[in-house]
Amino acid sequence: MLSASETLTRVMKRQPGHGLEQAFYTDPGVFETEMQQIHYREWLFAVPACEVPEPGNFVTYKIGPYNVIIVRGADKVVRAFHNSCRHRGSIVCKAERGKSAKLVCPYHQWTYDLDGTLQWAREMGDDFDPKAHGLKSVHCRDLAGLIYICLAGDAPDFDAFARTARPYLAAHELSEAKVAFESTIVEEGNWKLVWENNRECYHCSANHPALCRSFPDDPSVVGNKGADSAQVQAHVKKCEAAGFKSAMTIDARGQHRLARMPLKEGAVSYTMDGGTAVARRLGRMPFDDGGTLMKFHYPSTWNHFLADHSLVFRITPISPTQTEVTTKWLVHKDAVEGVDYDLKRLTQVWMETNDEDRIVVEDNQQGINSPAYTPGPYSTVQEDGVIQFVDWYCNHMMRQLTGRHLIAAE
Ligand code: FES
Ligand SMILES: [Fe+2]
Repeated sequence: MLSASETLTRVMKRQPGHGLEQAFYTDPGVFETEMQQIHYREWLFAVPACEVPEPGNFVTYKIGPYNVIIVRGADKVVRAFHNSCRHRGSIVCKAERGKSAKLVCPYHQWTYDLDGTLQWAREMGDDFDPKAHGLKSVHCRDLAGLIYICLAGDAPDFDAFARTARPYLAAHELSEAKVAFESTIVEEGNWKLVWENNRECYHCSANHPALCRSFPDDPSVVGNKGADSAQVQAHVKKCEAAGFKSAMTIDARGQHRLARMPLKEGAVSYTMDGGTAVARRLGRMPFDDGGTLMKFHYPSTWNHFLADHSLVFRITPISPTQTEVTTKWLVHKDAVEGVDYDLKRLTQVWMETNDEDRIVVEDNQQGINSPAYTPGPYSTVQEDGVIQFVDWYCNHMMRQLTGRHLIAAE
């Protein structure tokens, strides 16, 4: 089990352009350092805001030992709290989701308002101060209908990302959405393998027959070189002329990217025939072939926003070799199943794709577990997105563990 300083040493001696050494995908010490330095420190996508549409609606989200309540208050503001009672620490909300006028601890019924303040605690004596015993808050922001949380005491800046993302997301009107379907799978693979797999389509033609009907396995779409591609440029020009922010943005640290990309010629949505999935559109794109607004924000989420529906993915590390992947299909809240959309047609491509990705990630993990594994080179043509992710990871770890960053590429 490697310490944080042993992890840092390995980050510093890694070979750029190559996979990471075995310990990064297997070692419990590296995993713990990553949780402390990345997942418990950075902003994480938690849920779409439409899952807590009314005051009193709540959902819970577990990240490592943390358990977070996300709840909409009487003033309609969405807040997040640690799901740990200020009396003797019990879980307050046991359900994964629900609706409640107050948050009542099941143990001794301490009762909290939706804004976290303690309203009632039986027989605690005259010198008990309820104001000092509200639920501990977790940083929480609503970005155009996407709820992000941060577990750190001092959260890193969110505003720069929000300023960048909002103009892209506005067209998709996520506050008007509902969750048509959701799926959670646990992949027997390290969370970075899930990301590495996501950031390339080198594997797509051999593994994703359904996705490849609509998604181009062109490295300029999935990678970082969209501006070099005439097809991408033409798509961006068309969408921007219609008023939709589309040209690619990657932040200086490489933590997030937004870009509106074309689908395959003739395809307008992720369906088996490439046709529309939902007749009642989510968002205000006036044409079907708006392609997909692809957004990633390390370490927790990638998304696709289409002309007719949106897809949000959430990545939660569970152990060095296990990662939870949650997918939600968002449609307009007034879209009616069986009338405006067929659930199988809407979900089939990504249900199959997720399962295919699970298999390749698990195969990748098993091969890396072998003592014979040595890191191999990434394709600079096909895997520049993977190189970008691994560079971000190494730079972030170095910045956190040394207070400086050392890779010139950043
Ligand atoms: S632990 Fe919550 S009321 Fe006692
Ligand atoms: Fe894939």
